Amino acid sequence: MSQILLRTDHLQAFYGDAQALFGIDFELRAGELVAIIGANGAGKSTFLKCLTGLVKAKPESVIWKGQPVGGRAPGDIVRLGLAMVPEGRRLFPSLSVEENLLMGAVVSRKGPWSLDRLYAMFPILKEKRHQPGTSLSGGQQQMVAMGRALMSNPEVLLCDELSLGLAPIVIREIYSAMPTITSEGMTVVIVEQDVSMARKVSDRLYCFQEGVVSLQGASADLTREQISKAYFGLATGD
Ligand SMILES: Nc1ncnc2c1ncn2[C@@H]1O[C@H](COP(=O)(O)OP(=O)(O)OP(=O)(O)O)[C@@H](O)[C@H]1O
Ligand SMILES: [Mg+2]
Repeated sequence: MSQILLRTDHLQAFYGDAQALFGIDFELRAGELVAIIGANGAGKSTFLKCLTGLVKAKPESVIWKGQPVGGRAPGDIVRLGLAMVPEGRRLFPSLSVEENLLMGAVVSRKGPWSLDRLYAMFPILKEKRHQPGTSLSGGQQQMVAMGRALMSNPEVLLCDELSLGLAPIVIREIYSAMPTITSEGMTVVIVEQDVSMARKVSDRLYCFQEGVVSLQGASADLTREQISKAYFGLATGD
């Protein structure tokens, strides 16, 4: 099996006195595409934010290539090789498409991703490169957000709700880029509300429920019934 890149060990997270994550054990191997699903408020975004230093975590609860990195500053985490596509895209409104993309290269690691490479994957972005990023459609803005994260040439791409607010046809278009992204050996974590899409594109899946992992396994092995129980917290009766 390939190397474990990233692991969490009984990861807990708090907002003030309110606990959001209650001991998440998670692992990610090089080359995998792992999906995290779960209802609103389950803790999916908080989990990604702990991985990227946006929410505090104990050092030894997040392990990157054997090193404790929990609580490191977000910039340090990007330099290590983790980049996030944040929930809601968060483009810089005053910047053009191309300037938004270049912001991702502020931390510039060596790797295959460049403006040319991105424009080859998403030609519409080249066409619109001088327009304000926020003037684009939702799907195109999502492409910019993905492109911006790829511009740092991460080893791991963390995506929070790529499909949020997008029409099914646009969701399919966005996800059709995944094979190109993973073909270079990129390791990917997606948080996804669209459970059937999550199952379809991922190798393994974790379901979160109220800050704990309620189910995990190889995506192809998990049944719809197992997933809906874990997702909605229905009593199993056994
Ligand atoms: N900035 C914050 N301050 C206080 N509590 C927060 C904050 N962000 C999230 N929470 C709380 O932490 C818990 C987990 O929220 P989180 O956003 O991680 O869930 P999520 O699974 O990403 O949900 P969604 O599907 O709605 O994006 C929720 O109870 C939420 O109310
Ligand atoms: Mg979220």
